[in-house]
Amino acid sequence: MSYNLLKGKRGIIFGALDENSIAWKTAETVHAEGGKFVLTNAPIAMRMGSIKELAEKTGSEIIPADATNVEDLENLVDKATEVLGGKIDFVLHSIGMSVNVRKGNHYTNMNYDFTTKGWDVSAVSFHKTMQVLYKKDAMNEWGSIVALSYMAAQRVFPDYNDMADNKAYLESIARSFGYFFGKDKKVRVNTISQSPTPTTAGQGVKGFDGFISFAEKMSPLGNATAQECAEYTVTMFSDYTKKVTLQNLFHDGGFSNTGVSQEVMEAFIKDEE
Ligand code: NAI
Repeated sequence: MSYNLLKGKRGIIFGALDENSIAWKTAETVHAEGGKFVLTNAPIAMRMGSIKELAEKTGSEIIPADATNVEDLENLVDKATEVLGGKIDFVLHSIGMSVNVRKGNHYTNMNYDFTTKGWDVSAVSFHKTMQVLYKKDAMNEWGSIVALSYMAAQRVFPDYNDMADNKAYLESIARSFGYFFGKDKKVRVNTISQSPTPTTAGQGVKGFDGFISFAEKMSPLGNATAQECAEYTVTMFSDYTKKVTLQNLFHDGGFSNTGVSQEVMEAFIKDEE
């Protein structure tokens, strides 16, 4: 199923680590829709993941960049425009990491050096990426920039830890930078708030298995998969969403607006005998 929605468009895709990654599925789907792109990830992830396989499959080049390092990002944007033969039409920021989560530090017992690292990787890297693109005037008019978020930015999910704060920061950056990108360059900036998804980053969250089952039962349409997130992202890169900007777009099967579902109620109703 493909419609050539991204024919002639050029982009940068951050964050494909392995075949479960949302960015991996997005790269495959963008490729199927006729878009060209470079893949990028932190140098350390190149060694761990299988990104080369994805590059071969989609005919893309890999340009390593630590998304917290502005020089790396400048090099990435210069090389991407050179390799792709022109300015950029779409960017996916699919990056998240909390050292406190990794080390099992409770939210009430944070190591603030880890906290700082976490917001730099998960949120400020989005500002850095956009600032480099903006200063280099590297985006085409009516281009589209998307970052991936999670609903813990609005509501409490205790085990999501400092990633909740990182996502709130990320969504705010999308709005604040999106204003200037829209006014000055006609580029739109949005976040997609995705259902829990079994990936390396997702499974790092404590209690993930229970939580994904709960979300599945709460959502009228069920959890959105990584592939479905890729498809939604493609629509946000296409010319059919030109005036959507500064939004946090829930892609969660209806979870965010559901108070309680029949399935969840049934787990609490005692037999009436
Ligand atoms: P993933 O683990 O496959 O992807 C995370 C990526 O971030 C990896 O490719 C990793 O190498 C990259 N990364 C980490 N530090 C980096 C740095 N300094 N520079 C460049 N890249 C760096 O996991 P997933 O789930 O595909 O994550 C993608 C995005 O989706 C993240 O923002 C995550 O928070 C978000 N998300 C995930 C959900 C889930 O349940 N899996 C739910 C909602 C949002």
